[in-house]
Parts: sequence; C-alpha cells; structure tokens
Amino acid sequence: MTSEIFDVAVIGAGPGGYVAAIRCAQLGLNTVCIDEWKNARGKASLGGTCLNVGCIPSKALLESSENYFQIKHKFAAHGIAVEGVAVDVPVMVTRKDKIVTTFTAGIASLFKKNKVKSLHGRGTLLQQDASTKIWQIGVNDNGATETIQAKHVIIATGSVPRSLPLAPFDTERILDNAGALALTTVPERLGVIGAGVIGLEMGSVWRRLGAEVTILEAMPGFLMAADEQVAKEAKNVFAKDLGLQIHTGINIKSVKTSATSVVVHYSDADNQEQVLEVDKLIVAIGRVPNTAGVGASENNLAMDERGFVVVDAFCRTNLPQVYAVGDVVRGPMLAHKASEEGVAVAEMIKRIESGEPAEMEAIDFNTIPWVIYTAPEIAWVGKNEQELKAAGIAYKAGQFPFIANGRARAIGETSGFIKVLADEKTDRVLGVHMIGPHVSELISEAVMAMKFSASSEDIACIVHAHPSLSEVFHEAALGVDKRALHI
Ligand code: FAD
Ligand code: NAI
Repeated sequence: MTSEIFDVAVIGAGPGGYVAAIRCAQLGLNTVCIDEWKNARGKASLGGTCLNVGCIPSKALLESSENYFQIKHKFAAHGIAVEGVAVDVPVMVTRKDKIVTTFTAGIASLFKKNKVKSLHGRGTLLQQDASTKIWQIGVNDNGATETIQAKHVIIATGSVPRSLPLAPFDTERILDNAGALALTTVPERLGVIGAGVIGLEMGSVWRRLGAEVTILEAMPGFLMAADEQVAKEAKNVFAKDLGLQIHTGINIKSVKTSATSVVVHYSDADNQEQVLEVDKLIVAIGRVPNTAGVGASENNLAMDERGFVVVDAFCRTNLPQVYAVGDVVRGPMLAHKASEEGVAVAEMIKRIESGEPAEMEAIDFNTIPWVIYTAPEIAWVGKNEQELKAAGIAYKAGQFPFIANGRARAIGETSGFIKVLADEKTDRVLGVHMIGPHVSELISEAVMAMKFSASSEDIACIVHAHPSLSEVFHEAALGVDKRALHI
C-alpha cells in the first residue's frame, strides 16, 4: 500500500469523473483519478463513454454525413451542381478517430496541468479504516495491483449499453454504440432496435450515407420524452426528408444471424407478424449503470432495483465520504449533467475539508437541456405540454415556425418551430421546446431564461439580431401573449 493519502480518489474518467478530478485539484485538493478504459488499439484513453464512443465521435460522424447529404440533396437548390460526389467511409472514420484522440489526450494534458495523478486500471473500494476514516482503493491494471488511500472517493463509473437477450452484441452483425460508430462501409440495409437518442442519431448517420434504415421501437408513441408536438413533427420530417422508416409499437420475437445477414421477426402495432432482414443491426435500447468491480456489494453500497447507486440530492451515497456522479446515479444520462454533478461534489468536499457546512443548492434537473443532434435538431428544457397538463398547471403557449424566419429561409432549413410555455398567472417560463436548424445552440438562451426565472415578457424585451435563427425564440416568446409580429 502506498503511504501517500490523497484528499480525493475519483474512480472513472468520463465527463463526471475527469471534471470532478480537475475541479478538486483546482480547489487545492490532492487528487487521483483511476480509469480502466482502453480504446480499440488497446491503449488507455481518458474521457469515458462520452469522448471515446459517445458524444464526440457521434457528432463527428453526424457532421460528416450531413455534409454529404447536403451536397447530394440540397446544393442543387442553391444553384450549385456537383458531380462525382462519393463517400470514403474509412477517411470519415479516421477523421472521427483523430478528433477523439485529440480530446482524450487533451484530458491527460489537463490532468498534468492541474496536477491530478492519473492511474490506469480498475478501481475497487476495499475498505474504510475504522479509526482514521481513510478509504483504501485497489487499482488493478491487467493483474498488476496496488492499493492507494484517500479521504474521499467519487464513484463516476458511468454506464454500459443495455443488451437485448434475444440479440446479444457480437461486434460483427449486432452492434452497440461503439460498433455503430466504427463501421467502415455503409451497410445496404441497416436495422436499429430502439428509436431513442442513439437510434435516431446513428440511424441518421448511416441513412444520410445511403443505407436503407429501419428503426423498430417498442413503445406505441415516438420520442415519448419529448413534447408531443415536437415528436410528431420530428417523425414526419425524418420520414419525408431523410427516408427513415420508423415502426412503433413493435415486439421483437426472434433475432437470427447468419454469415451474411440478421433476420428479425417481430409483431407490428397491429399484431401482424413481420420480418426484417438487414446486413447490420444496431441495438440501442437504453443504457444501464456500471458498477462492475467497484466493490459495491463488498461494502454494502446502496443501489436501487435498477442498479443505480443511490445518492441524495448532493450525490452522497450511504457510505461515509463516498459520493457518486453521472450515469451511475439517477437523473438524465447526459455528459453535462455528469460534469455538473462532478463540480458540485468537488466543491462540497472542499467545503467539508474547510470545516464549512457541506450542503449548498442542489442541482436543478429541470434546467438541464436535452439535445438530439438529428436534422432537424431537437432541443428542450423544462416541462413539456403533456407534463404540464398531467400536473394540472395552467399555462400559456407561444409558438413560431422556422419557415417564417428570414435566416432559416436563407440557410434553406425551414422545418420545425420553437414553442415557449409560460405559467398562465405569473408568465414565468416553464419549458421551451425546439425543433429546427441549430437549435442545439439556441437552447442555451432558453436555459438561461429558466435558470434566472425569466418570464416570456422578459425574453420578448430582449433585442435579437436580425436576421438570425434566434428571432424564432423571440417571436415564440412574443407569441405567448399573442404578440408575434411576423405571422
Ligand atoms: P462514462 O462516460 O461512462 O465514464 C465512466 C468511466 O469510468 C469509463 O471510462 C469507464 O471505463 C470507467 N470505469 C468504470 N468502472 C471503473 C472502475 N471500476 N475502475 C476504473 N474505471 C472505471 N450525452 C450528452 O450530453 N450529449 C451527447 O451528445 C451524447 N451523445 C452520446 C452518444 C452516444 C452514442 C452515447 C453512448 C452516449 C451519449 N451521451 C451524450 C451520453 C454521455 O456519453 C454520458 O451521459 C456520459 O458519458 C456519462 O458520463 P460518466 O462520467 O457518468 O460516465
Ligand atoms: P433511449 O432511452 O434514448 O432510447 C431507447 C429506446 O429503445 C426507447 O425508445 C425504448 O422505448 C426503446 N426500447 C427499449 N426496449 C426495446 C425493445 N425491446 N424493443 C424495441 N425498442 C425498445 O436510449 P439510447 O438511445 O440507448 O441512449 C441511451 C442514453 O444515452 C440516452 O437516453 C441519453 O441519455 C444518452 N444519449 C444522449 C445523446 C444526446 O444527448 N444527444 C445521444 C445519445 C445518447
């Protein structure tokens, strides 16, 4: 056992863990971060799911594939004729991999700069010394083990893809998110199980590049976490403009692979038996918390029935001086949520070490934005109409379409709208729902408005540049009191 006693040991270097480690170090805490990730080349690679096989590589491929789609299908309308357009998937994938390695290496540099000690291997909570209250943590790197000591431990071990028992991942034909991001040719026929965020983003990538894509979704509705009107618009545009075939209300009966294809038998929404034969099948039916090897049961770390580490509003577990953040705990499985929790815990540990009260304001999940990077993009923050109705909250709605916006017309992306929902009495903004071009960027203004308890009138009073897509948000806010000008 090493004699050094760290103030904080972070297990996991995804956006929850690495951000927590950096913030701890910035606050003057002696910090170590243990991570076991290895990339496809067998090399240690910081950044967790998000950087290696999630947010960053998916957005790289979404951008490349959208460029191709634009040239093929949209440039002619601008009077630009392009001949001989071709996709070189290996180049596209290499570009994506380069972006990933730049960022994962960037975290190693940030650790160095901030004096975070980085250890590669699996971190396991061993025990807490009864008298000193110091935790011992085992680090196992391919059989080479060491034991380190820390006063506080942050578990940030993330999540892994949920597999479908009928269709276990085989890295060849039945793919998880990592496989979906690593294809080197465009499959002629691609099946996707699950019309959630990954299914739609990865389905879009390969559809834009020419695959025939069929998405099978168990739920009767489509994108049920989104505002119903947004989901309806999305389903129409995805089918009409992109040619994504989305079947909801299905039930998978069997999945069989052969040397050349995958055959899926399922019943459709009308209970009719259907068969889908594809070259590759992506299974994206959600993710499950990852606590493998962290020493949870050995230490009686409380977990809920779905395997999430149980934490309070401040990310404290049932074990003294042990916290958990990110995908391994309740709440949205989003990188920015994980990072926010990482920072909050780092600051709480600093307060504890300084003898100050631990508790400050808890993170408000209601102001965490969601973005789906399809075309059109989808973004929202706060409550949607069906949630407000279910809660019996009286509200006013203002809505404005991109088709009536000059910049959207100039860009040539006119699908979608922005909707602002405000409390009927107080006018306080309760939710903002967007579908349209670049709404991943526009949503920040709505988050700020909600964070500062703005009213729709407050937004209406802000001057928005003309011509810009942000005017759609302005007009939607004006629309709450029936004052929209350009419709
Ligand atoms: P992770 O990123 O999963 O990191 C956990 C780390 O801990 C990993 O490196 C793992 O190897 C390591 N680890 C686990 N156990 C141990 C152990 N015992 N010892 C040592 N190390 C361990 N979110 C967004 O906000 N925006 C997006 O655009 C987005 N796109 C996504 C696209 C895809 C395809 C996927 C799969 C996810 C996407 N997400 C996105 C979700 C996002 O990736 C996660 O919410 C985020 O990575 C969670 O961060 P985390 O730190 O909790 O866990
Ligand atoms: P998801 O929860 O978004 O969607 C899973 C879908 O699969 C759901 O619609 C569900 O009804 C469906 N499903 C479940 N079981 C099924 C079955 N047996 N047959 C058919 N359909 C079934 O999960 P997904 O897409 O795997 O992504 C996991 C998480 O990763 C997301 O919830 C999100 O938190 C995060 N993520 C975020 C992104 C972003 O922020 N842009 C991008 C990608 C992932």
